[in-house]
Parts: sequence; C-alpha cells; structure tokens
Amino acid sequence: MSASRYRDTAASAMAVGICSGSLTMLHSVLLSSENAQLFRSLTFPSYRPLLAEPSRSSNLIGVGLCIRREAAGLALGRYLGNGESEILSLFVDKACRGNGWGTQLLHQLELLLHARGGRRCHTVYMTQNGSAATFEHLLSKQAWSAPQTRLVLFRFDRRMLTAPWFRRASVSTEYEVVSWSEIREDELEEVRARQQLHGHIPDYLLPFENDGSPDTDISVGLRSPNGVIGWLIAERVARDTIRYTKLFVDHTVTASGTPAFALIREAVRRQARTLGLNSYVICGVRAENQAVIKLLQRLQPESVRESRVSHKMLRSASSQANTATGLASIDD
Ligand SMILES: CC(C)(COP(=O)(O)OP(=O)(O)OC[C@H]1O[C@@H](n2cnc3c(N)ncnc32)[C@H](O)[C@@H]1OP(=O)(O)O)[C@@H](O)C(=O)NCCC(=O)NCCS
Repeated sequence: MSASRYRDTAASAMAVGICSGSLTMLHSVLLSSENAQLFRSLTFPSYRPLLAEPSRSSNLIGVGLCIRREAAGLALGRYLGNGESEILSLFVDKACRGNGWGTQLLHQLELLLHARGGRRCHTVYMTQNGSAATFEHLLSKQAWSAPQTRLVLFRFDRRMLTAPWFRRASVSTEYEVVSWSEIREDELEEVRARQQLHGHIPDYLLPFENDGSPDTDISVGLRSPNGVIGWLIAERVARDTIRYTKLFVDHTVTASGTPAFALIREAVRRQARTLGLNSYVICGVRAENQAVIKLLQRLQPESVRESRVSHKMLRSASSQANTATGLASIDD
C-alpha cells in the first residue's frame, strides 16, 4: 500500500457512520495522529502544521473522505471555546466534485463541532478562487448566513511601483518622511500617550500592536514638530511581495500636502530599490473603508479579492431530519 493510501484499520475504527455497506470503499473518518498526514494536501498550507500532530491541538476536528482507499476530501474545523467554533477549510479532490461529498463533509463537521460544544460557527474564505461560488452555494443550502465582505485585498504589480501620479505627492516642509527604523522608542511612547488621551487611532492601525515583523528597509514614518503623526508599515510576505499592513496619518495634526501619498511614494520607492520593479504590492482594506477601496480600485490593481465571512447557529444531529442518508456509495 502506498504511503498516500488510507489504512483500512484506522478507517473502520474511526468511521463516523456514513459508510453504507460492506462493499463500499467510502469512509468518513475522524482525524487522528495515524491518519491526519494522509489528508494534508487537502487543506491550505497554513493549516498543514496542525495536521502534523492533531493530538496536540485537542480542539481541531476533521472529517476525511476516502474513496477507493485514497484520501479524497477533508473538512477541517476547530472549537474555539465559549460555544464558538469555525470551519477552517473544506476540500474535495477535483475528480470527485459535484457528487455531494462537499455537502456531506460540511454537514458532518457541523455535527461534530456541535458535539464538541460549538453552538455558533463561522467560516472565513477568499473569493477569486474558482470554487468560491460553489462554496457559497453549499453554505446557503445548509442555512448559513448571507456572506459578508470583511476585507478587500488588492495586489498591484510594477504599474504601482512606477505610477506617475506619485510624483505629485507632497508633504509640508516641516514634516519629514523617515525610515521606520529611525523612529525612537521615546517617540513611540509619545504616540502611546496621545492615544491614551484621545483614543483616535483604531487599534488595528496602531504601529506597536500585533505587528508581525515590519520590514525596516521599507516601512516609513511621518515626523512632525509635534512628534510621529503617521506611518506605513510593510511586511515582506514572499521573496517578491510586500504586504502593506498599516497606513495612518493623524489628520488632526496635519495641515497641508498629501502626507498619506508621500508615505506611499517613499515606501514603494524603497520597495522598488530593495526588491526590484518586478515585485508586488499587496494590501487589505476593511470593507467599511469605502473611500480607500474606491481609490485603490482606480489604480489598476492586478487582482482584487475579498475575504468574506458567514455564520451559522449549529444544531445537534437529533434535531436535524437528515444526517447521513442520501450518500451515493462508490464501489471498487
Ligand atoms: C467547494 C467544494 C468543497 C465543493 O465540493 P463538492 O463535492 O463538489 O460539493 P457538492 O457536490 O456537495 O456540491 C456542489 C454544489 O455546488 C453547485 N455548483 C457547482 N458549481 C457552481 C457554481 N459555479 N456556482 C454555484 N454553485 C455551483 C452544484 O450544483 C452543487 O449544488 P447542488 O448539490 O445543490 O446541485 C469543492 O469545489 C472544492 O474542494 N473546492 C476547492 C476548495 C475550496 O474552495 N473550498 C471552499 C473554501 S475553504
């Protein structure tokens, strides 16, 4: 049996009840340390480490699908505590799609999350994936809420790095755009103190909160006589891609010029110098920030995707009419 083949013994020990006959080679299985690795290609790369040792993450719940002993589908979720749970991914092998497996995997996972304590469930997913419409169809069919856009994600190519309109960006002479690495701890302390007083900066834009690892060659700050009043924080997410995570300019202090554009101009100039003109810019804008979304849409993005969320109140198996019936069986 090849390494990628599913082990029958584990299957029968952990089948969750959708096998329909002794000749059937279809199994729905709970993930365990023994079998999780066989399903790793059926989820996003970022979740694969979770499958390396599922026993270490006791809140992780997966339902795998095997057809003719091969791993063919996986629904992965987790219990988050306090009645909250989430669907992390749902995947069915291309050759097997359109046969009802995705529907059944999602349904089984919902039941397991409920049994684990989940009363509410959410799922976050990206559009511009060929299957997003299919996934949304499944959600709607299984009584999930209408999807809502959380973030709009833009990707720009060299057209952004060479955009002529940047040259018009300006900043009053008393302000200075500087490398983020030049900003001193005492200057950040002042930003913190002002924030404590006024609370005018949304938490998700604070430069010292939840920062991964800002790229100090590319991230920039805006210094004024009153201290640091703006920043554009950049993170390198791939060899050729910079993600801009936080752009903020305190308009209660700024007087003239286009300081936000001056920050962008300087950061992309630094990106072009460090990574070259064939590199990419990505940035996510919250759905409520329509002004910025409209602006970025006008700048010829190479692609625009949305991160969407949908919710559902989970119910137990006994309160649902149909759990495991209606499955086709696939015989060898
Ligand atoms: C989403 C996915 C799991 C669905 O699996 P599946 O086994 O094909 O799902 P099912 O057969 O149960 O259901 C497919 C449904 O989508 C419908 N559908 C197919 N193409 C569609 C489209 N372009 N737009 C809307 N609905 C579509 C089918 O008609 C079917 O609906 P029905 O049962 O009411 O007739 C599968 O396409 C997949 O693995 N995609 C890649 C990963 C992914 O994007 N996952 C979702 C986000 S994590």
